[in-house]
Amino acid sequence: MCGIAGYTGERNAPKILFDMLKKLEYRGYDSAGVACFYEGKTIVSRGKGKVDEVRKRSKINDLDSKIGIAHTRWATHGEPSDENSHPHSDCTKQFTVCHNGIVENYKELREELTARGHKFLSQTDTEVIPHLIEEIYTGNFETAFVSAVKKLRGSFALVAIDSCSPDEILVARKESPLIIGIGIGENFIASDTPAVLSETKKVIILEDLEYGIIKKNSVSIKRLDTGLPLEKAVQDIKWDVKAAEKEGFDHYMLKEIFEEPAAVKNALKGLDDIKAAAKKLSKYGRIYIVACGTASYAGLVGKYVFERFGICAETVIASEFRYSTVNTTDKKCAVIAVSQSGETADTLASVKEAKNRGAYIVSVVNAVGSSLTRLADDNIYAYSGPEIAVASTKAYVGQATTLTLLALSEARELGKITEAYQNEILDDLHRMPDKINMVLNEREHIKKLALQLRDCKSFFYLGRRLNYPTALEGALKLKEISYVHAEAYPGGELKHGPLALLEKGVPVICVAPNDDLKEKMESNMQEARARKATIIRVAEDGELKVPVCDPILSPILYVVPLHLFAYYLSTGKGIDPDKPRNLAKSVTVE
Ligand code: AGP
Repeated sequence: MCGIAGYTGERNAPKILFDMLKKLEYRGYDSAGVACFYEGKTIVSRGKGKVDEVRKRSKINDLDSKIGIAHTRWATHGEPSDENSHPHSDCTKQFTVCHNGIVENYKELREELTARGHKFLSQTDTEVIPHLIEEIYTGNFETAFVSAVKKLRGSFALVAIDSCSPDEILVARKESPLIIGIGIGENFIASDTPAVLSETKKVIILEDLEYGIIKKNSVSIKRLDTGLPLEKAVQDIKWDVKAAEKEGFDHYMLKEIFEEPAAVKNALKGLDDIKAAAKKLSKYGRIYIVACGTASYAGLVGKYVFERFGICAETVIASEFRYSTVNTTDKKCAVIAVSQSGETADTLASVKEAKNRGAYIVSVVNAVGSSLTRLADDNIYAYSGPEIAVASTKAYVGQATTLTLLALSEARELGKITEAYQNEILDDLHRMPDKINMVLNEREHIKKLALQLRDCKSFFYLGRRLNYPTALEGALKLKEISYVHAEAYPGGELKHGPLALLEKGVPVICVAPNDDLKEKMESNMQEARARKATIIRVAEDGELKVPVCDPILSPILYVVPLHLFAYYLSTGKGIDPDKPRNLAKSVTVE
């Protein structure tokens, strides 16, 4: 997820564009840049760093320009660096583009364009776009822009300028958001409303496969497929800036839970890299999955899926791995390091130690260009986008999806599953976003249940096999943001001690899909009921309902009601779930 912006009017474009980027930084903040027209040329100023840092060292601030585009980046392809920051230009510097999204066919486009003599300066997918426009251009910017956009596969929100058409900005949208802020004698373009609200509350929302020609006194929107003009409604935005940054949600955490369907979709975009890593992993007899906190529970999901296909994999908490298990590593073993931030001290230290011992390191990471990505031999990105809330939600879903795909790919590589079965699971995974949305639609019921239980002093979460990490994640989420004690156990462990803690009214949340262990979970629930505990089943017919899915994908789906449950119990206790006490988003110290 990145933030893109554009301005055309009578005022100073560089200042307005940097101000707009500042309000879009929640969408990405590892590099930024601005491009403005000035005296017949496009002047570009960009670099690694947050918006204020780039602005401070930029010479473009003093430019008397009235039109330009801008970008604040959350890296997906190519680590954060000056040359990977947007805007990107073609060989002649005539065309300049900012992009939010993923060009899935960028490799083949780049190869074709390179073969035609185009020189690329970055590792980004975006840079193919201005070169594509240059390749197609025969004198009409709009025609070349539309033809180029039609060749892109994947998602995009684009702003583009042509130094030979200095009074217009072209825009296009597919899956990534883009709005046009309507001013008087000026117009604004942005990924999202927070960037324009201080200037105007009148916006046009660009829909998928629409493009536009934006001038200071006119906005023309057309269909990408036919080029036919569209009449677009101008909407009045009622939100203030803070609400708009959360897209109307009360907290970033709730917004990010609602991005969990997209987290599954985005993880699937890494399938090529996942298959490549699986090929290498299949050469190793021992696999350690190393992480901390929520990431370690995603790692545990991976372990169980590996084991489902007869592949040995052990999940070890990084702060334990680095002082003990690492002594068993050598060049015959592989380490999968899982981390949202890619900066967690214990995870990094574990990877360094294992690497020194010759282990093969592959990361499952969200933050491109993070320290972990520079240590790993191969990186698999979850593409979940920036996660602002301290409590990890969509990143967990992205990690669990990625690790499931990794185990599935290795099982296929080793001939342990058929291609038909692999495709069957992939098909179910493609349907997963809709299934998660069905759970999200039940949020009022989940909220009601959470409020009923908000005064309970202690919660138990139970699950078996790959539903045990879901219980662990549910318990951690509750602890993290509602400050209530919660413990997760494998269902079979209850009678080995924890049962003594159960008494009337203690909530026991049981992750109990309709699989071959259902009866076992049922007997656990009977044991708990006999002590008059309050049983809450996460099941197709449970108190926390979920749709039917393949049991091997249940960790991805069954965690969603638990994330919502923790969120509503936290807000029900008057706590701000985005900033829980004592915690930091990334634990970069030991
Ligand atoms: C998750 O909600 C917590 N914020 C915490 O457990 C987190 O998952 C852990 O610190 C690991 O962070 P990482 O994924 O950035 O490495």
